[in-house]
Amino acid sequence: MTHAPRLIAHRGLSAQAPENTLTAVRAAHDAGIDWVELDVQLLGDGTPVIWHDRDLRRCSNGRGRLDDLSRYAAARLDAGSWFGAAFAGEPMATLAQMLELIDALDMGLNLELKVNRGRDPEALADRVLPMLLEARPAQRLIVSSFHAPALARARRHAPPERLPLGALFERVPGDWASRCEAIDAYSVHTDWRRLRPARAGEITQAGYPLLCYTANDPIAFASRWQWGVSGVISDDPRVFRAAG
Ligand code: G3P
Ligand code: MG
Repeated sequence: MTHAPRLIAHRGLSAQAPENTLTAVRAAHDAGIDWVELDVQLLGDGTPVIWHDRDLRRCSNGRGRLDDLSRYAAARLDAGSWFGAAFAGEPMATLAQMLELIDALDMGLNLELKVNRGRDPEALADRVLPMLLEARPAQRLIVSSFHAPALARARRHAPPERLPLGALFERVPGDWASRCEAIDAYSVHTDWRRLRPARAGEITQAGYPLLCYTANDPIAFASRWQWGVSGVISDDPRVFRAAG
């Protein structure tokens, strides 16, 4: 039985609000999009935060590496002004704060375990999974990662019926099926531009929901629905709804 969503807001509604923030998730909800994709990593003190990059520069007024930061220093960052003056003072969201919001809004969450260079995938999974399993029901959760050891570690926390895992690939490799079987994957996620129809057919015929990132042009994307793609992860999923 599938619960895979058709429309997912990438890093929240990141076309309209600073990515991976509480405001971006509220914006998705306000726009009627009830699933979000977010990235999670650990600060230097082990606090899980919603953040994509290895460092602070692009999405905040801070500098340096995320894993050099404590939660106290993180709380003083401005993660909104880079996107627009209207977002000044937006905090870097901790996972705990984000889960509280998602629970209050009863949204679906595709949480990506983001293993940047030099980071420990097992520490990330072990810190995040208990919080996630406590906070979200299986029907409103998909945990994905490009990093197979992170997914394998996540699987140790719960069986498939409790924890849907998404195998995330830049380009789906020839041995995708065995990789999915190794972690009892629920879904396959890939870059929409690098997907080919034959591979899409193999995946959907095997019964896996197939989700594509990061697409923002519904016309260019249209053929993918015909290939069996079940969901799109977009900076602005509203344009896909408008396209029907
Ligand atoms: O989960 C899909 C997508 O978010 C993966 O790429 O770099 O945007 O995290 P990235
Ligand atoms: Mg991501």
